[in-house]
Amino acid sequence: MVREVVIYPDKRLKLISREVTEFDETLHTLLDDMYDTMIAKRGVGLAAIQIGVDLRALIINIPTEESDKQLRDHTLEIINPVFLTMEGSCKTQEGCLSVPGIYEDVERAQHVKISYQDRHGNTHEIDNDEFLAIAIQHEIDHLDGKVFIEKLSYIKRKKFEKEWKKREKN
Ligand code: CO
Repeated sequence: MVREVVIYPDKRLKLISREVTEFDETLHTLLDDMYDTMIAKRGVGLAAIQIGVDLRALIINIPTEESDKQLRDHTLEIINPVFLTMEGSCKTQEGCLSVPGIYEDVERAQHVKISYQDRHGNTHEIDNDEFLAIAIQHEIDHLDGKVFIEKLSYIKRKKFEKEWKKREKN
């Protein structure tokens, strides 16, 4: 089921999400709804808080070169992630379903390694230095109450706030 996306500057986006402890039907429905919502809004990632649920759960589905279909089977479901490694730095253009229409370059670590749980509570690791590494950092920021525009320079941030206010009025 497609759920409503929480839009900036909604205060819920500032919440520190809670650890998932029950890997039950409620969690599975949440993850399924997150997938439906991400696909409906044409996103490549979504954190639970973006549909108003403050749990440490996120999904990522980056279309591949071979197929631009974001198959459900290829969706990464990441619960309770923890960084094991964060190295280097790089700048990549990012966007966010909670800040629709805004795309800005953001500086992040180049290489990350995380440990996380899947929907059944089993533990896995991801080691990546490509776009997935950027998406993981963007989504984990949501679990900690942070949105990517907060990482912009002072001047760019001011420009964004001005533009956003103008847009809210219309
Ligand atoms: Co986002």
